[in-house]
Amino acid sequence: MTKIFYYFFIIIFLQSSPQIQSQTIPRNISIFILAGQSNMAGRGGVYNDTATNTTVWDGVIPSECRSNPSILRLTAKLEWKEAKEPLHVDIDVNKTNGIGPGMSFANRVITRFGQVGLVPCSIGGTKLSQWQKGQFLYEETVRRSKAAVASGGGSYQAVLWYQGESDTVDMVDASVYKKRLVKFFNDLRNDLHEPNLPIIQVALATGAGPYLDAVRKAQLKTDLENVYCVDARGLPLEADGLHLTTSSQVRLGHMIAESFLAIPNSAQQSLYMHFFSLFCSLYVSLNIFGTIFHFL
Ligand SMILES: *[C@@H]1O[C@H](CO)[C@@H](O)[C@H](O)[C@H]1NC(C)=O
Ligand SMILES: *[C@@H]1O[C@H](CO)[C@@H](O)[C@H](O)[C@H]1NC(C)=O
Ligand SMILES: *[C@@H]1O[C@H](CO)[C@@H](O)[C@H](O)[C@H]1NC(C)=O
Ligand SMILES: *[C@@H]1O[C@H](CO)[C@@H](O)[C@H](O)[C@H]1NC(C)=O
Repeated sequence: MTKIFYYFFIIIFLQSSPQIQSQTIPRNISIFILAGQSNMAGRGGVYNDTATNTTVWDGVIPSECRSNPSILRLTAKLEWKEAKEPLHVDIDVNKTNGIGPGMSFANRVITRFGQVGLVPCSIGGTKLSQWQKGQFLYEETVRRSKAAVASGGGSYQAVLWYQGESDTVDMVDASVYKKRLVKFFNDLRNDLHEPNLPIIQVALATGAGPYLDAVRKAQLKTDLENVYCVDARGLPLEADGLHLTTSSQVRLGHMIAESFLAIPNSAQQSLYMHFFSLFCSLYVSLNIFGTIFHFL
């Protein structure tokens, strides 16, 4: 009898020890970089609280954005943690963050991957000129993306990009938008050593100024290989007329996921990985049952 308990404790120890788990279960995080400005950071559910005259998030998390132990996010401290809304809470620190497209996207693609890792990098109110190579936001995105691979093992799957509202104010920003965008995408792919990394960008729903159509035109016709565009125009907005609502963000995340999953071979290798880890856990479970029954 005591022998059974002894083995039980060994099994429980083996199961709960993260060191041993990481050796037996292959870790291959499928990494998605989330960059842009406020609508990528997420403002769904953010409203003006008249009592305190501050912006607050209503805290409503729709089921499409729920957490899942297989969906991780890279924190500001460069650690992988289980992802939860708001995804940019420790990144876009000077703003009130709410729901963005990241979690509904991740919940849609997780069926194709063993583990999804989101790397939030978006900052509200930023212009594309601030995202050029050498600028802080660009270098920070490269640094976080490299750390994402280094801290845990994984491979880049795509960049999700939603930016440009701040480039609709000034005519010069709008007219050079396409040139800056192509340079930004090329530089990022080079620095991540992924020359063909899929990029899914969002064509603007709204702008802070009059040159919305010029920026949208650049986004809808970026003319780079493996760059895709989904259109947010027409999705319902918050009272500020600038930000997508929570349900719009859920919809947008699904649109981005559909665009990503339509890329040929976007998730085949990892589907294999998924079944492999499933097989591994099944094998371990059968062994445990075998051991228990052996002693009973
Ligand atoms: C509320 O805050 C804004 C700036 O955030 C300020 O312009 C406005 O005067 C404030 N309103 C009240 C009633 O305090
Ligand atoms: C937040 O505001 C502080 C103070 O103005 C500034 O130094 C910092 O760069 C800002 N951070 C972000 C992420 O915008
Ligand atoms: C909150 O109030 C500010 C200042 O009046 C306004 O600019 C902003 O659009 C409002 N935001 C929302 C989400 O209603
Ligand atoms: C991890 O998964 C990606 C695709 O999701 C695949 O390309 C890569 O080869 C895998 N790496 C390992 C070590 O299995």
